[in-house]
Amino acid sequence: MIAVVLAAGLGTRMKSATPKVLHRVCGKPMLRWVVDAARGAGAKRVIVVVSTQGEAVRAAFPDCEIALQKRQRGTGDALRAAAPLLRGGQAPVLVLYGDTPLLRAETLRRLARARGRHPLAIVTFRPPVASGYGRVVREDGRVVRIVEEKDATSAERRIEEANAGMVVANAAFLARALGRLRPSKRTGELYLTDLVAMASHAGGAASVEVDDPLQVLGVNHRADLAVAAGAMRGRIVEAHMRAGVTFEAPARAAVGAAVRIGADTTIGAGVELRGATVVGAGCRIDAGCILTDARVDDGATILPYSVITESVVGAGARIGPFAHLRPGSEIGAGAHVGNFVETKKTRLGEGAKANHLAYLGDTEVGARANIGAGTITCNYDGFAKHRTVIEEGAFIGSNTELVAPVRVGAGAYVGAGSTITRDVPPGALALTRAPLRTIDGYAARLRKQRGG
Ligand code: UD1
Ligand code: CA
Repeated sequence: MIAVVLAAGLGTRMKSATPKVLHRVCGKPMLRWVVDAARGAGAKRVIVVVSTQGEAVRAAFPDCEIALQKRQRGTGDALRAAAPLLRGGQAPVLVLYGDTPLLRAETLRRLARARGRHPLAIVTFRPPVASGYGRVVREDGRVVRIVEEKDATSAERRIEEANAGMVVANAAFLARALGRLRPSKRTGELYLTDLVAMASHAGGAASVEVDDPLQVLGVNHRADLAVAAGAMRGRIVEAHMRAGVTFEAPARAAVGAAVRIGADTTIGAGVELRGATVVGAGCRIDAGCILTDARVDDGATILPYSVITESVVGAGARIGPFAHLRPGSEIGAGAHVGNFVETKKTRLGEGAKANHLAYLGDTEVGARANIGAGTITCNYDGFAKHRTVIEEGAFIGSNTELVAPVRVGAGAYVGAGSTITRDVPPGALALTRAPLRTIDGYAARLRKQRGG
């Protein structure tokens, strides 16, 4: 099978600088959903028909062939634009629209089976309100033609069965029939749907009906886009639930199409898993967390409202609540990153802990080191970034500044409130601290003086 996806419509109702079919549904462009469905149904080649704004589509779909329809003269004309790429082919041709992201591969396989030896088969459905759609005209139950709403009589407009738009056709039939399309007298457009009447004279047009109108929803504007995204989100979450993932509030979680999640993981309310995020088995991703292109290994716990981007969380580690792992963070197995801790390009060794209020940037932390509350790596001097190394088992007291580049040796201690500007040898104690003075009775004298 060869698929031709029509996507040359201008999509003006999106009111967007981005071509309509590149708008995303659950992280994946609408057109990609359609192309994937076509390939899932066995299409070996996919041709996308674009208009002059097609460069962006070409760039985003290097795996597809591109045909150009210069002026939008109807769906039949759009398919004609792909004809040079189809010439001489034997394989059946599947025609789809680029703006129906919810279409399932299974429906297309059914369509191909239904065609059998007929020249053509179409997909039909019964929309709650049929207005706007072509109607399927039957005689003795057999499809004889499709009439476009604009050309329909009032009796034809009362037909409830509508044309969803997808077609599969025999290659030789299509090559002949395409050349015989004539413009509609009323609109001047070439209608792809006129192929149906031709097929009914040349051996009959087969059809399959889909029960769920959403599956063939064509997205025209952003409210449609939101409807499609909502339905797709539901589908994705349901598939994960069937594969052994618990969602505490399935309607309030968003999981991208490419995300993978292991069994016995629990996902809380309001969680978003985006991009190529991979979550292992037996993890807990608690409410409100947003993970983008992150990897979370088995048994890790991400507490509420943590944000993790392009980072790795090791097995059994515990992150959050309110932690921020920025790109390039690698948290070792069993390590802890607590509330209001920010990391960037930082590796935390196995079992290391940074439990409260810290910034660790361009830092290497050895296994089992402890980073006290309020620790800051001063990694930027206004010109360049510098590295901090904290070796295995070191203890960084609270409210320490580590002025990079700097290294704290294995097992060393840094006293609370220190500003570390030079390397600390392994096993040493480092301390920078103004001496403490106490003046007996001073507080009482002060209150008396101020009348307190
Ligand atoms: C089409 C069908 C109608 C069906 C409906 C389902 C025809 C004549 N009518 O109507 O029977 O019920 O879809 O949604 O086919 N396109 C191009 N070039 C063009 C025109 C359209 O590439 O010159 C593409 C569009 O980008 C879109 C698809 O073809 O992806 C459908 O076009 P659209 O104008 O929405 O068709 P309808 O008039 O809604
Ligand atoms: Ca349409």
